[in-house]
Amino acid sequence: MSAQPTPFRRVTVPWIVAAAEDQRPLVMVTACDAPGGRAADAAGVDMVLVGDSLAMVALGHPDTLSVTMDEMIHHTRAVSRGVRRALLVGDMPYMSYHQGWREAVRNAGRFIQQGRAQAVKLEGGRRRLEVIRAIGDAEIPVMGHVGLTPQSAHALGGYRVQGREVERAEEVFEDALALAAAGVFALVLEGVPDALATAITAEVSVPTIGIGAGAGCHGQVLVFHDLAGWGGPGPEPRFVRRYAELGAAAEKAITAFADDVRAGRYPSAEESYPTPEPVQRWLARRRPERRDQA
Ligand code: KIV
Repeated sequence: MSAQPTPFRRVTVPWIVAAAEDQRPLVMVTACDAPGGRAADAAGVDMVLVGDSLAMVALGHPDTLSVTMDEMIHHTRAVSRGVRRALLVGDMPYMSYHQGWREAVRNAGRFIQQGRAQAVKLEGGRRRLEVIRAIGDAEIPVMGHVGLTPQSAHALGGYRVQGREVERAEEVFEDALALAAAGVFALVLEGVPDALATAITAEVSVPTIGIGAGAGCHGQVLVFHDLAGWGGPGPEPRFVRRYAELGAAAEKAITAFADDVRAGRYPSAEESYPTPEPVQRWLARRRPERRDQA
C-alpha cells in the first residue's frame, strides 16, 4: 500500500472511487465550522463530513435527532469557507429524507446550493433505495451509511453494535450491497464487527469508510471532537483514539486568562492601544465629572 498522495486539485467523487480501487486508505473527518474545515483541509484529509453528530458535539443535544436542516446548512456553509481541497459531504439530518423522494431531493439540493457541499450522506439500508436513486438522478453524489445508524437509535434500542447475530449481520450485508447497486459512491460502515466490515468491503463495488468497524475498510472516519479530545463528558466508544486534549487545553487557557485578569496582569501596555499625545493632553485638561448620576 502506498502513502496517500495529496492531489493538487480538489478531491472529487471519481478520485475517491479510484483511490479505493488503488488500495489507498481514505481519510474522512467531521467538521462543523470554518476553522475545523481549514484544519482538516490543511491536514490533507480526503473528505470532510459535516456530520449530524454536530448536534451532540457542537450544539449540546443528547442525540443527533433534533438538529434541523437549517442548522445543518448553516454549519455546512461555514465549513465550506475553510475547505479548499477535500471533498465536502453534508449529512442529511433526521426527517429531511424520510417523507418521500421529492422532499429528500429538495433538501439534498440545499446542501449543494446553499451549503456548498459536493455530496450528501444519509443513513439507512434498503428502505432508502428510492430516495438514493432520486437524489442521484438530481446529479448529487450520495454516500450511504449502514450498520449502527444513530438516527435509528430508538428503533435499534440504543447505540448497539449491529451484526453480532447472523440474522442482523445478513441484513447489514444485504443493505450494503443494495445501496451500492442503487448508486451510492461510498458507504459508511458504523458499529459492526470487524470481520463483517471486511467481508462487506471485499464484496461491495464502492469504497467503504469505517467507524467502529475494524481495519478492513477502504478508509476510516472519526468525529473531530472525539479525536481531538474536544468532546463533551460521557463515555467514549472503544473505537475512539484521542490524538489531542483540546478540551483540557482550552480549560487551562481560559483559567490562565481569568487568573491574569483577576491579578491585574492582563492587559499589559503592549496589549493596549497607546493614547496619542493630543488626546493625552485633552484628557489631562478635562475636569473629571460623573455624568451618570442625577
Ligand atoms: O454524523 C457523523 O459524524 C457521522 C459519522 C460518524 C460517520 O455520521
